[in-house]
Amino acid sequence: MEVTPSILTADFSRLGETLEEAVAAGIDWIHMDVMDGNWVVNRTITFGPALIRSVRERLGPEVTIDCHLMITNAEETWEQYADAGADMVIAHIEAVDDFPSLIEALHGANVQAGCVLNPATPVDFVMSLLSELDLVLVMSVVPGKGGQSFMPEVEAKVRAFRSAIDAQVAAGGRATKLMIDGGIKDHNAAMVAEWGIDIAVVGSGLINERATIAENLGAINAALGK
Ligand code: DX5
Ligand code: ZN
Repeated sequence: MEVTPSILTADFSRLGETLEEAVAAGIDWIHMDVMDGNWVVNRTITFGPALIRSVRERLGPEVTIDCHLMITNAEETWEQYADAGADMVIAHIEAVDDFPSLIEALHGANVQAGCVLNPATPVDFVMSLLSELDLVLVMSVVPGKGGQSFMPEVEAKVRAFRSAIDAQVAAGGRATKLMIDGGIKDHNAAMVAEWGIDIAVVGSGLINERATIAENLGAINAALGK
């Protein structure tokens, strides 16, 4: 299982240094949490395409950047994130009316397509899209802020996606990646890896004042037996 940082708990005034520290520690994928002050329950605003463009320019082309869009109008605005340098756009199934058209538009622009579902949303909402998706993201907290507690009840959902993706790959289909986001730390990383997660988003477990990113990543990797 790979780890990608969420920057929500970072000191934004020194974001460039923090991200360079992450890359130096071996991170090659950055997760950007976009909130528009409207869609998430606590009405948070985080950042938009301008910051993503700066991060892309600072880190260069080698790092993968995904944009987790917690916004109301992803169908109309995804292009801004692609233009800013996102390799992948991950939109919420609960927020998009016509998801197949969004996937088609993203692929038409050579952008990878991800679909994310909230803890309360059933897997059925996403299963019919699986063959076209580059990534499925299972939220293990209610989206809105970093530093929340992990919700273990998402296990059945993760395992259902793992089985479906494995069956899809065995039938010669797309190797859709499976991601989890929210409350992942060194103490539960091995558990979600065992459930079948490919990529874990880690925010406060990686970027905090207790230790360096390299030390935190080292603890997670040790828990994963790496
Ligand atoms: C929640 C975000 C997550 C979250 C991760 O809305 O999508 O990426 O901030 O942070 P931690 O790891 O602190 O839960
Ligand atoms: Zn996220």
